[in-house]
Amino acid sequence: MKNQENILLNIKDLHVWYRVYGGYLKVLNGVHLMVREGERVGLVGEAGCGKTTTMKSILQILPPGDFHIPQGQIFYKGQDVLKMSFKELQRLRSREIAMIFQDPTAALNPVFIIGTQIGDVIKYSAAFEENEHKETIKEQSIKALKEVYLPDPERMLINYPLQLSGGMKQRVCIAMAISSPRNLLIADEPGTSLDVTIQDQIMRLLNEIVEKRKTSIILITHSLGVAKEMTDRIYVMYAGTIVETATPEVLFKNPVHPYTKGLLASVPKISGGGITKGIPGKLPSYLNPPSGCRFQLRCEQGDPICSEKPPQLFEVEKDHLVACYLTQR
Ligand SMILES: Nc1ncnc2c1ncn2[C@@H]1O[C@H](COP(=O)(O)OP(=O)(O)OP(=O)(O)O)[C@@H](O)[C@H]1O
Ligand code: SF4
Ligand SMILES: [Mg+2]
Repeated sequence: MKNQENILLNIKDLHVWYRVYGGYLKVLNGVHLMVREGERVGLVGEAGCGKTTTMKSILQILPPGDFHIPQGQIFYKGQDVLKMSFKELQRLRSREIAMIFQDPTAALNPVFIIGTQIGDVIKYSAAFEENEHKETIKEQSIKALKEVYLPDPERMLINYPLQLSGGMKQRVCIAMAISSPRNLLIADEPGTSLDVTIQDQIMRLLNEIVEKRKTSIILITHSLGVAKEMTDRIYVMYAGTIVETATPEVLFKNPVHPYTKGLLASVPKISGGGITKGIPGKLPSYLNPPSGCRFQLRCEQGDPICSEKPPQLFEVEKDHLVACYLTQR
């Protein structure tokens, strides 16, 4: 693992609830996640397990009025994001962390040309203020669009989002994210809404950017295979909790949590595979989640203690943590 000391982001015991008719959806249930400087972290888990909610909490962009954080801390460079002033949050969003969203069509404003949207990001960045070469916003925008290999960047600036393909829109979003230096990139399933070949190109592009800039990244993906290829550490999430974390090598060789094992067994194999077993069952209700381990309704190895209280992350070997009572039997 990379640098042990320089912790950039440290999420501790984060609980996030959404206010809905009839009560609260208790989505995040004690998330722990750490990113060190220059580290590439993968966050893996099935749809609806709370990956985007965790990331939106870091930037404090959850829907206003609809959420409640009863417990937890999110330290960025040692400062608790949950206690930041509006100005500090603006600085965090414009100069420290950039997020690439799942759906590029929803992320771009349909009524503004690309030049305006990318220009706004550059305008508020520290790099623009400190710009020694006095490059104009247009020059910096073109530079960013070239870095993501968009053809004819000058023309691209006067295009509206609807004039671009899905893959092009996602490249524009990546260009916006890297148009000024950031210490942390959050890529939330950046290829999900695109076809597989474009997905692959987007992943390669992100990999290249992160390698070149040595930026820390949190890469959210459904695919353990992608996380293995592209990250230094994987966090496996289930129903709002981190159930296991380790380096990709350790996780693939020695998975401990029954959910991680199920995920690994669900990876389709091209040769001689057929349909994989998958993980029977579905996520529990967030309105009335079970007490104790949230995986208990799908677990074949549970026993009475599993429904008493949630298992905590436990170090089964160096840098390999698992939240499951099996580790203590
Ligand atoms: N604004 C909201 N109001 C109410 N519930 C919400 C809201 N946003 C998300 N949720 C619920 O929170 C849960 C977690 O959603 P989230 O988007 O964080 O999951 P995810 O892991 O990112 O899923 P996916 O892989 O499909 O993107 C889901 O049950 C979702 O319906
Ligand atoms: S804590 Fe119990 S129910 Fe949960 S995954 Fe472990 S064995 Fe299964
Ligand atoms: Mg999501």
